[in-house]
Amino acid sequence: MSSELFMQMLAPTGGERILDIGAGKGKVAAQVMKASGGEVYAVEPNVKRFESMKREFPAIKSSLAGAEGLPFADSYFDKVYTTMALHHFSDLDKALREVARVLKPGGSFVVLEVEPDSGLGSLFKFSGGWSGSTWGCGQGSSFGHGWSLSAASGSFGLKVRGPAT
Ligand SMILES: C[S@@+](CC[C@H](N)C(=O)[O-])C[C@H]1O[C@@H](n2cnc3c(N)ncnc32)[C@H](O)[C@@H]1O
Repeated sequence: MSSELFMQMLAPTGGERILDIGAGKGKVAAQVMKASGGEVYAVEPNVKRFESMKREFPAIKSSLAGAEGLPFADSYFDKVYTTMALHHFSDLDKALREVARVLKPGGSFVVLEVEPDSGLGSLFKFSGGWSGSTWGCGQGSSFGHGWSLSAASGSFGLKVRGPAT
């Protein structure tokens, strides 16, 4: 999965407030910050990775937190994304409810994730009004299929693009 395609899907621009969930050591967040010139926030629950991110990329506004408890006010972000981390979330419903809460109405949520069968990355872009309901597919298993994300999107009132390969 090319980073160019991810950047196209995210389309970061200056003046936006963007959140990376499960940012690891912050490499993707650093690229997004460079591309946008805007404010980039990142959450990472693993202490070592979080500390590495803080050390290496101090300009990223990083927090030691997981997707299930985002330490931000409602409607705080223009865009939220997660790369290769969705399958690690311990409670997907809770995490998506948190994304919906911190995202501004009409904001975008971009997911870069591994497809369970192919092992290849796929990109999904959710945009438009979150209705407050959440994606239930994938509960009990770590990896979800692209089609299940797309099929479930109707219950959110979300517009979905992807997978784009
Ligand atoms: C494969 S790494 C991807 C890191 C980074 N996003 C990237 O693309 O390079 C997955 C990350 O998800 C994080 N993670 C695990 N559980 C999480 C959770 N509940 N919420 C948010 N991130 C989580 C891990 O600590 C790890 O840093």
